[in-house]
Amino acid sequence: MDWGLKNRLSRIIRPDGRTVMLAVDHGYFLGPTTGLEDAKKTIKPLLPYADALMPTRGILRTSVDTATDTPIVLRVSGGNSILGELSDEGLTVAMDDAVRLNVSAVAISIYVGAPNQKQTLLNLAKLIDEGERYGIPVLAVTAVGKDMVRDARYLSLCCRMAAEIGAHIVKTYYCEGFEKLVKSCPVPLVMAGGKKLPELDALELTYNAIKRGAAGVDMGRNIFQSDNPAAMIQAVNAVVHDNFTPKKAYELYADLKAAKKKKK
Ligand code: R5P
Repeated sequence: MDWGLKNRLSRIIRPDGRTVMLAVDHGYFLGPTTGLEDAKKTIKPLLPYADALMPTRGILRTSVDTATDTPIVLRVSGGNSILGELSDEGLTVAMDDAVRLNVSAVAISIYVGAPNQKQTLLNLAKLIDEGERYGIPVLAVTAVGKDMVRDARYLSLCCRMAAEIGAHIVKTYYCEGFEKLVKSCPVPLVMAGGKKLPELDALELTYNAIKRGAAGVDMGRNIFQSDNPAAMIQAVNAVVHDNFTPKKAYELYADLKAAKKKKK
């Protein structure tokens, strides 16, 4: 691994070995997702609390301040939509444009066991070859098709395959037996948040993932769809970086939320 690639990785994964990535790339196949209708308004107050931001190229250009210091993990796969076959993805951004956009990493989904498994795995391989050429790390997202069960057996298969092809970070879902899954993945693993849960449940999920070896989270809806997104991302940070228990982190969330109400 060359110096540039390692340097970019170290901007995303903090010196404590952990990271809170804010995922705002949902629109690439979901359109205007709840909470991201006005992406600029959503992202601005959360950016100071994110170790990295994961947008698409369009959202980066239109909705993120060019003066930001926050490393960008750019979503570069797409071509599918909720109206079609989800696994039918290709690459949507050329590596030289990712370099021009000064991103710290690129992100791509793989769909193991889905109709276009091979295509998405070869997309990953191609992206890693290009990333290595420019010193840009690649984050592989283990997307789960409609017919797949999110259990340890399946997710371990996906994570290990992504790492074997050469992904530098892998993003997957939490599951029963997560510890084993982390141990069999030789690169840092971050947890995707999934559908919106009550805040305490999302903090518990985060706590469990960290306790069982995740390097952090790449979380979207459980932050930006929260009653108070800024309070929620600070509570997630407290679990990831300061080892807060879910209860203590929830108290922090509630205090920050109450303080904001009082200010109004
Ligand atoms: C989905 O493929 C997108 O990459 C999202 O970034 C990912 O699912 C994480 O967001 P959420 O925490 O909302 O699931």
